[in-house]
Amino acid sequence: MYTLSFKQDNGKNFPEWPVFDKEDIEILSETLKSGRWWAGSPGQHSGENIWKFQEEFASYQESKYCIAVANGTVAIEAALLALGIGMGDEVIVSDYTFVASASAVVATNAVPIFCDINPDTLVMDVDKVEDLITDRTEAIVPVHLGGNPVEMDKLMDIAERYDLSVVEDCAHAHGTRFKKIRAGNWGDVGTFSFQASKVLTSGEGGAIICNDDDLADEIYTIIDCGRKKNHYSYAHYVYGTNYRMSEFLAALLRTQLEKFPEQHKLRNENAEYFTEHLNQIDGIKAMKPTPGTSELGWYVYPIVYEPEKFNQLNKSEFYKKLNRNGIPTDDCYPPLHTLQCFKDVNLRKGIDYSKANWGGGKSDDKNFPVVFDVYSRSVEFPQYILLSTRDQLDEIVTLIKSLQ
Ligand SMILES: Cc1ncc(COP(=O)(O)O)c(C=O)c1O
Repeated sequence: MYTLSFKQDNGKNFPEWPVFDKEDIEILSETLKSGRWWAGSPGQHSGENIWKFQEEFASYQESKYCIAVANGTVAIEAALLALGIGMGDEVIVSDYTFVASASAVVATNAVPIFCDINPDTLVMDVDKVEDLITDRTEAIVPVHLGGNPVEMDKLMDIAERYDLSVVEDCAHAHGTRFKKIRAGNWGDVGTFSFQASKVLTSGEGGAIICNDDDLADEIYTIIDCGRKKNHYSYAHYVYGTNYRMSEFLAALLRTQLEKFPEQHKLRNENAEYFTEHLNQIDGIKAMKPTPGTSELGWYVYPIVYEPEKFNQLNKSEFYKKLNRNGIPTDDCYPPLHTLQCFKDVNLRKGIDYSKANWGGGKSDDKNFPVVFDVYSRSVEFPQYILLSTRDQLDEIVTLIKSLQ
């Protein structure tokens, strides 16, 4: 039985993150002593951790292939490149996400197009996707914010009708299951992040899962300098770069993955309890799991509040009051259309961004009404809050009530 350790310095004894135990120390130490600090080229394995982790994570995510990479940002970029996305193509991305979901699109010389969200589930509003499709649209990047899945069945129907590729950004969705299928297996590929705050972490790191043999080979080639599996390692067949993961990260991920299912179960059980109690507060609405979801990754736990029921507290006053009481709460992601880099419209030399639905006046909040409203009155708890005891969750609920 794995036991969590607890922070002593926030006064509330909330679980700390990241966590590690002697298995993590042992595998890192063994890797160090083995002298095999990289995985080697395909077919000429040096270290074994990358190859084993890829199999283990694919198995956990119930996919055929997993390709480990340096981080979750290049995972999206490599997936898009493997799907042939490039110069001037339009890629529809949720507006409510971390910048990487869109900057990875920009890195391929394509143009992200921002899609507003559903006010209850806080993820891409699939009913708004078709209006954004043009003759330049080539792909969609649904982001499962907080592990809450986009309605992938409906989205795949649209993608099939318009012949679009789909890259699921699963940076928050390790273990998410929607309509019996794990996130990342609905689209052409699913991309993951193992950055330090993520529910499965090695500090930095990423992975791409997919179920198609040729696509898996293509992704492999892109992330390993244009090499092909089991070919001479100085033969470089196509454009590719070095987005490989280090053996140390893969080693740590292997022992972290062993602990993950138990943590994931606890997060899901606690989220249900927390939501039930939070939603009893007049003026608080927790993120609603997309109907059809049986497990969520729960990378963050967002709540939306009504300022008029909380003495007109603005968002920063709201979460700072919680912080002052030892409760780790933070702002949510500023919507992509509000970011300076997407207002300026000069991201990459030679790319025409004039047809994008952002930039200059087009970035006005009124063009993204739902996300604007949600962002102005939402805060989020980090995932490790869901590893707390029920008493600690009750304490948070009581504190929020006291702000009224
Ligand atoms: C939704 C989303 N996508 C992609 C990423 C990028 O992952 P990484 O930080 O590993 O590059 C993140 C990171 O926080 C994220 O939140």
